[in-house]
Amino acid sequence: MKGKILRGRVLTFLDEPQGADDHASYRYFEDGAVAIAGGKIVSVGEWSEALKLAMPHAEVIDHRPHLIMPGFIDTHIHYPQMQVVGSYARDLLEWLHTYTFIEEQRFADEGHAARIAALFFDELIRYGTTTAAAYCTVHPQSVDAFFTEANKRNMRMIAGKVMMDRNAPDALLDTPQKGYDESKRLLHKWDGLGRLHYAITPRFALTSTPEQLEMCQDLAREYPDAYIQTHVNESLGEIAFARELFPNLPDYVGVYEHYGLLGPRTLLGHCIHMTDREIAIMYETGSVAVFCPTSNLFIGSGLFDRERMRAGNVRIAVATDIGGGTSYSMLRTLDEGYKVLQLRGQRLSPIESFYMMTLGNARALSLEHTIGTLEPGADADIVVLDARAVPHMALKMECVETLPEELFLLQTCGDDRVVAETYVAGEAAKRVSAS
Ligand code: GUN
Ligand code: ZN
Repeated sequence: MKGKILRGRVLTFLDEPQGADDHASYRYFEDGAVAIAGGKIVSVGEWSEALKLAMPHAEVIDHRPHLIMPGFIDTHIHYPQMQVVGSYARDLLEWLHTYTFIEEQRFADEGHAARIAALFFDELIRYGTTTAAAYCTVHPQSVDAFFTEANKRNMRMIAGKVMMDRNAPDALLDTPQKGYDESKRLLHKWDGLGRLHYAITPRFALTSTPEQLEMCQDLAREYPDAYIQTHVNESLGEIAFARELFPNLPDYVGVYEHYGLLGPRTLLGHCIHMTDREIAIMYETGSVAVFCPTSNLFIGSGLFDRERMRAGNVRIAVATDIGGGTSYSMLRTLDEGYKVLQLRGQRLSPIESFYMMTLGNARALSLEHTIGTLEPGADADIVVLDARAVPHMALKMECVETLPEELFLLQTCGDDRVVAETYVAGEAAKRVSAS
C-alpha cells in the first residue's frame, strides 16, 4: 500500500474529558505514528519498524518533536465577512447594519465571491482548521464560489445560502419562494458532492418573515439530513426585537421551535441570554449551542454560560464567528473562551478545550466517525502543532513538563505560527498554499 506515515507525538480524543485529569478520555503516543492511505487514516499508535514494513512504499514524514492531532473544526463562521473583521460598533445591530449588510452586498459579484472564497480557505488552512460550518450570503453565486473552492481543495465543508426577506437593505433580500427555490437548487447541486454538506440557513428571526420561516420548515422536512444553522439570543437589543416580531411565541428559541427548525442537526449560534424554557427545548430537540467567544467579547454581546448549558444537557460546540469574531484560530478562540468562563467562575481545562475544537465539534456536527479523530477509517484531516515556533513560547517550553501544560501554552499564546502543517484528506496543504 502506498500512502504516508506521519511520525511525531500523537494525540486523539476518545470521549469528552470529565475534568482536567481525565487521562482515559484521550490516546497519546510519545513516539507515535499515523498511517494514511487514500485520504483516510489507516492506523494510529506507537511508531514501529513493523509499521514501515507493512507499508513499504509509504512516504515517512518525520514531524518529531511536534504534536499531531485531528484538524480543527469551526462550527460557525461567515466567509463573506473577511473584510468586516475589526469593525467598530456599539452593539450587534449597529455592527450588522453599518458594516456587515453593506459588505455582503459585494457578493452579488461572482468574481469577488471567488476571490474571497480562495482567500478564506487559505486562512483556514493556515490556522489548522480543516472543516467549517459557514454562512454564505443571500446570493446563490456566493454559495457556488464557496463550494467550488472547497471542492477544489477536497475539504469537508458545510455551508448554505443565507435566507433573509426583511429588515435589511433591499439588495440583500430574497422572498420566501426565492429563498426556498434557490436553497433547494443549491442543496441538490452541492450536498453530498465530494466532501460537501448543505446547511439550510435562515440568517435569524429578525430578517425572516413568518412566511419565510414556514418555507424553511418545508425544506427541513424535505431534507431531514441537511444541517440547519441560524443565530439566537446573542444580544439584548436583538432579543427585544425578536420578541416584538413574534409576540405570540413564548421566546426567541420558541420561534425556531414553532417553525420546526430545531433538532440534532441544528446549530444555534451564540445562545448567551437563555431562559430555562429555551434550555429545556434545546435539550429536548438535541439542538447545538455554538459558543463564539471572540465575537461575544468583541461585539460586547455577553458571556456564554457553559455550566448552565451543561447542567441542562445541551450539546455545545465552539466557533470563531468571523467577522464578528476576531481570529480564524481555534486556539485563539478557546483562549478567549477560557477567559469568558474565568469571568463566570467556570473552569475549562486544556484537555477539555482541545477536545472541543476536535472531537467535541465533530460530535456537534454528527461527524464524529469522520472528522475530529485519528481513529482508523476517519478522514486524514490533521494538524501538526509546534509549541516552540515562537521564541517566547520556546522559552516557556523549557519549563513545560506535561501534555496538558503544553496544550495550555499552545492555547494561550498560539496562533497560525504554531501550525507547522495542515493535512487535508492526507495531503499537506499549509506549506503549499503559503508558497
Ligand atoms: N446575527 C445575524 N447575523 C449575524 C452575523 O452575521 N453575525 C453575528 N455575530 N450575529 C448575527
Ligand atoms: Zn454568526
